[in-house]
Amino acid sequence: MILGIETSCDDTSAAVYDGRRLLSNVISTQLIHRNFGGVVPELASRSHIPLILPVIRQALDQAGISKSAIEGLAVTHGPGLAGSLLVGLSTAKGLSLGLGIPFAGINHLEGHIWANELAHPEIKPPFVVLIVSGGHTQVVHVPEWGTYRVLGRTRDDAAGEAFDKVGKLLEAGYPGGPVIERLARDGDPEAVRFPRAYLGEDSLDFSFSGLKTAVLNFVRKHGLENVKKNLPNIAAGFQSAVLDVLVDKILLAVRLTGVKTACLAGGVAANRALQQRLLNTASQQGVSVFWPPPALCSDNAGMIARAGYFYLSRGDVSPQDLSPRPALNL
Ligand code: KG4
Ligand code: ZN
Repeated sequence: MILGIETSCDDTSAAVYDGRRLLSNVISTQLIHRNFGGVVPELASRSHIPLILPVIRQALDQAGISKSAIEGLAVTHGPGLAGSLLVGLSTAKGLSLGLGIPFAGINHLEGHIWANELAHPEIKPPFVVLIVSGGHTQVVHVPEWGTYRVLGRTRDDAAGEAFDKVGKLLEAGYPGGPVIERLARDGDPEAVRFPRAYLGEDSLDFSFSGLKTAVLNFVRKHGLENVKKNLPNIAAGFQSAVLDVLVDKILLAVRLTGVKTACLAGGVAANRALQQRLLNTASQQGVSVFWPPPALCSDNAGMIARAGYFYLSRGDVSPQDLSPRPALNL
């Protein structure tokens, strides 16, 4: 029985995993950042403090267990915002000492990958996974659980960050990802063509800053008021440029590694146009595709608890002096 804790960015989350399924997965999203059009690190870390214990209490209540039933703790220790990570990690260490149970520090990105297994336990490595979120865009080869080979990553903005920045400059709302997806449903993706950065035929790296600048230049040229009258087409043109690159690169990774399965992970994986585009292209090539349901795509402690179960079951326990690692890689 594992209690998972996740506080790497602006979501305070706790979950209980019993070795077979999630018994609870409570997520409290900090709404204060909406006022600023982006996450303010200092506010994020402070906001975790009053939330973390009530969120853990709620996760235990929803699971129908008392804290004495927990056998191990799993907590994100990186990557993420230093102050935010510190709140979850300190809480886990305190509980570990107080309850006399082990804890495992978990890589947030590995957690996103495990979210696929939570939703689809039939997934077995080897596979490739595209992690696309507000902070990360990378293609990873997973030959077996616990082994991760990063094949390519973004050289500038993450895909979710591009959605958020474009949402902000179009004054469409925050976070930009879900807003742009909704607008794009009523737009024509061919009406405005934005550039796609492939960075070379065999490259699995990404770049989205040029695309963001192209949207900015479009707005400067036509004026924000005119652009606002045509938001669905602009949103569809932008989204299509992002998705073309994401889908092409994950299928290139499938070809280069010879695997037969591709997964999506992270907040942007909730984008239904991305899911459908990948499904259509991959099925023509005999590739199986998976993605988690929306609640397991965005940041949540369920995925951390699942990863923790893997490590604690094989005796991989973290020491009490484990530090937050804001820039931790896979
Ligand atoms: O994984 P996540 O919750 O947090 C990070 O670790 O970054 O991802 C949040 C990101 C935000 O940039 C948000 O705009 C994006 O995921 N996102 C989406 C969608 N839903 C969330 N992007 C595109 N389409 C969506 N439907
Ligand atoms: Zn994340």
